[in-house]
Amino acid sequence: MRFFSSLGVLSLLFVATLAGEGLNIPDKFHTVEFTHFWPVDEVNEYINEIAEANPDQVQVIPTRWTRELRPINAVKISSDMFANRPVVFIEAGLRPRDWAAHMVAIRVMHEFFSHYYNYLDVLEEIDIVIMPVSNPDGYEFSRNQDRGWTKNRQLNVGSDCVGVSVYHNFEPGFYVTPDPCEGHFSGPSAMSEQESRAVNHILGRFNVIAYFSLQAGGARANYGNNILYPFGHTYTVPDNEHDLFVFGDALSHAFTQAGGRRFSVGPAHNVWYDPHGNSLDHAAQVMNITFPFTIEMPYFGEHGYDIVEAEIEPLVESTLPGFIFIVNFFAGRIF
Ligand SMILES: *[C@@H]1O[C@H](CO)[C@@H](O)[C@H](O)[C@H]1NC(C)=O
Repeated sequence: MRFFSSLGVLSLLFVATLAGEGLNIPDKFHTVEFTHFWPVDEVNEYINEIAEANPDQVQVIPTRWTRELRPINAVKISSDMFANRPVVFIEAGLRPRDWAAHMVAIRVMHEFFSHYYNYLDVLEEIDIVIMPVSNPDGYEFSRNQDRGWTKNRQLNVGSDCVGVSVYHNFEPGFYVTPDPCEGHFSGPSAMSEQESRAVNHILGRFNVIAYFSLQAGGARANYGNNILYPFGHTYTVPDNEHDLFVFGDALSHAFTQAGGRRFSVGPAHNVWYDPHGNSLDHAAQVMNITFPFTIEMPYFGEHGYDIVEAEIEPLVESTLPGFIFIVNFFAGRIF
C-alpha cells in the first residue's frame, strides 16, 4: 500500500462517508492496492494494525514460527469472538511460487475489513479465518531469489539442499521422496514442517466446515481454473461427493459473474500428477472437514504461476464474487 500524506484530509472525509460500512482502518491503509505483490512484512503489518484497531471484529491468530522466524498468521473475522461459530477457512501459498493465490487471499481479507458491516448477516452464522501466506519463508525466497521456488526453507539433514515441499508433507499418501534437492522433496516424515502444522492447527482448533486451499494454475498438462475436491492421492472420492460437486459447480458460476473464466469442477486426481501428502486430502481424511477444496487460479505466463503485476487486479477483482458466494453459502443464505 502507498501512503500519500497530501491525501490525509481527503481520507478523513472518506472514513466519515464509509462509517458503518467498513472497519476502523488506519489512515495509511486507505490506499491499499493490488498492483504489486505484497511482501510478508506488509501483509503482517496490515493484519496486525487492523486487528489492533478492531479487536472485537478481527483477531490475529499466530500459529507457528518458521525456521527463518516469521510468524505464520491467520486472521479471524467474526461478529462475536467468543461464539465459536462454524468456520470457513481460506489458506494460500503452501506452494510459495503461487503468488496469484496470496494476492487473492489478501484481496478477500481486505473485502471483509473494508465492507465488514455488509457481511454482518453472514457473520451472525459463521466466522471467517484467512491464512494469506501459509509458507512465508518460501514466499520471500520466491520473491527475492528464485521465482519458481516450491518449498519452505528448512535445513535437511545430510544435504546442502534447503527446503521441504510443504505441499507434500501432509499424511494421506505421504512417502519420503529420496532427493532433498528436488522441488517436491516431502520431508523426513509427514507433518514434520511448521507450515503443515500451522494449517493443521487451524483445521483442528476451529469447527472448520469448509477449507479452501488456494494455488496457482497449472503444472504440466493442467491449465488451472480448477475447483478440486478430494481425493488427489487415490482414485476415490469422499462419501459426500455429490454435495461437493453441486457446491463446486455453483461456485464456478459465481466466479464467472465478474467476467472471470469458468472453473472446472472435479476430484483432484483427475488433474494432479504428483499428489502425495497434499493438504486437501489431509483435511478430508484426517481432519474430517466436510467441504475441502483446492482452488487453482487461472494459468499465467509460461508455467502457470508466473503472474505479473498488471494481472493482479483483474484476477483479484474477478474472483472476489466467488469468495462472497462461498461465505454466503456456508452462512446458510444460498440454497
Ligand atoms: C475423523 O473421523 C474418524 C472416523 O470417524 C475418527 O477416527 C477420527 O478421530 C476423526 N478425526 C478427527 C480429527 O476428528
